[in-house]
Amino acid sequence: MGLSATVLFWGSPGLLLAFALHPALALHPHRDYCVLGAGPAGLQMAYFLQRARRDYVVFERSSRPGSFFLRYPRHRKLISINKRYTGKANAEFNLRHDWNSLLSHDPQLLFRHYSRAYFPDAGDMVRYLGDFADRLGLRVLYNTTIAHVTLDKDGQAWNGHYFILTDQKGQAYRCSVLLVATGLSVPNQVDFPGSEYVEGYESVSIDPEDFEGQNVLILGRGNSAFETAENILGVTNFIHMLSRSRVRLSWATHYVGDLRAINNGLLDTYQLKSLDGLLESDLEDLALVKDHEGKLHVTLKFLLEEANQSAEAIALPQDDNDNFALRVAYDRVIGCLGWNFNFSIFNSSLRLSSGGAFSKKYPLVKASYESKGSRGLFVLGTASHSVDYRKSAGGFIHGFRYT
Ligand SMILES: *[C@@H]1O[C@H](CO)[C@@H](O)[C@H](O)[C@H]1NC(C)=O
Ligand SMILES: *[C@@H]1O[C@H](CO)[C@@H](O)[C@H](O)[C@H]1NC(C)=O
Ligand SMILES: *[C@@H]1O[C@H](CO)[C@@H](O)[C@H](O)[C@H]1NC(C)=O
Ligand SMILES: *[C@@H]1O[C@H](CO)[C@@H](O)[C@H](O)[C@H]1NC(C)=O
Repeated sequence: MGLSATVLFWGSPGLLLAFALHPALALHPHRDYCVLGAGPAGLQMAYFLQRARRDYVVFERSSRPGSFFLRYPRHRKLISINKRYTGKANAEFNLRHDWNSLLSHDPQLLFRHYSRAYFPDAGDMVRYLGDFADRLGLRVLYNTTIAHVTLDKDGQAWNGHYFILTDQKGQAYRCSVLLVATGLSVPNQVDFPGSEYVEGYESVSIDPEDFEGQNVLILGRGNSAFETAENILGVTNFIHMLSRSRVRLSWATHYVGDLRAINNGLLDTYQLKSLDGLLESDLEDLALVKDHEGKLHVTLKFLLEEANQSAEAIALPQDDNDNFALRVAYDRVIGCLGWNFNFSIFNSSLRLSSGGAFSKKYPLVKASYESKGSRGLFVLGTASHSVDYRKSAGGFIHGFRYT
């Protein structure tokens, strides 16, 4: 590439001079705005950049937009409502009740034209996002995985540096502003003795037949945990669900990320004194032990450290009434523990760090969504939810399409 650039510029002294002064300019294609990820947030940003006639590009590793929704949610039913009728003609009012559409001037690009279901299929979201990008002619580079992002200090840049993005083929791009819309994609894992026996939500079977007559323990208390339970409720012997804290119901908290009524079948059977149950414990204190029949026993880490080997030797104390249910053996343990932001492509010079305590899974940003570590790096979409976590809907399409 360096060679061809030299050849190209050889005939023109003016450009040759520019090349000599700014080698990076000639070597790396430059964009004012680079967007990482063609999910809902990346496409929404692209739409506004395009309308404002800005110089931008979106990088997408998959061959189409919204690829997260090709796989998730595993049981395919979205919990964002598709309210097609409100009895009102006011478009703004109607949009408030439409949790899936992105903003655009094209009335055909409303989610109500893509699904008749109140809780739509995730495949319809993939189709919708594909149409959104195509019909609006958004500039997306598909099949382009950005493998590394670093800084190039430069006094000419408005913020003192350019962002250098390198793709899987080694092609580098230079950007003045970097907009990160990669979502949360790394399954959260909790480490404890025996955690290797836990099957993750992202890969566990979704065929109910695989769970017939089994005792199942689910770790987690969010929508993915209850979605998983709902799917196998009718075929298991029982399901126990274990999480650090009390289940929060969205109809009580008004927070859409809490447990939604559509997923609460297990609560129903619990309240009605079926065999299923909810338990509370800090997952970090747990240990799982496999007995000689391959069954899994839950115990506490400190008991495991005191004893040495067999499951019997480390059973929970018999007089511990709170833990009565955990004394049974499980056939399977499933982890549904949420997602974290993938920090791995960002060079340490960007100082993109994770938030504290409650917002560890999110990159640390200011109220303006700009990273605390690098000027000109902004986080969009669900990965920016630390700004209004548990307070508002900024982590969801019907929230972040406005922010
Ligand atoms: C992306 O890759 C897939 C297969 O790997 C291919 O079918 C598709 O045409 C590619 N798309 C683009 C825009 O290069
Ligand atoms: C994080 O992103 C990198 C680069 O795309 C990828 O190689 C890696 O597998 C991702 N990590 C996880 C845990 O998904
Ligand atoms: C566990 O093993 C260690 C050494 O292997 C031994 O010293 C200790 O007494 C054992 N503890 C129990 C409760 O058997
Ligand atoms: C981070 O960037 C610096 C300078 O650009 C480079 O020397 C270093 O290897 C990069 N680190 C990683 C992990 O790629």
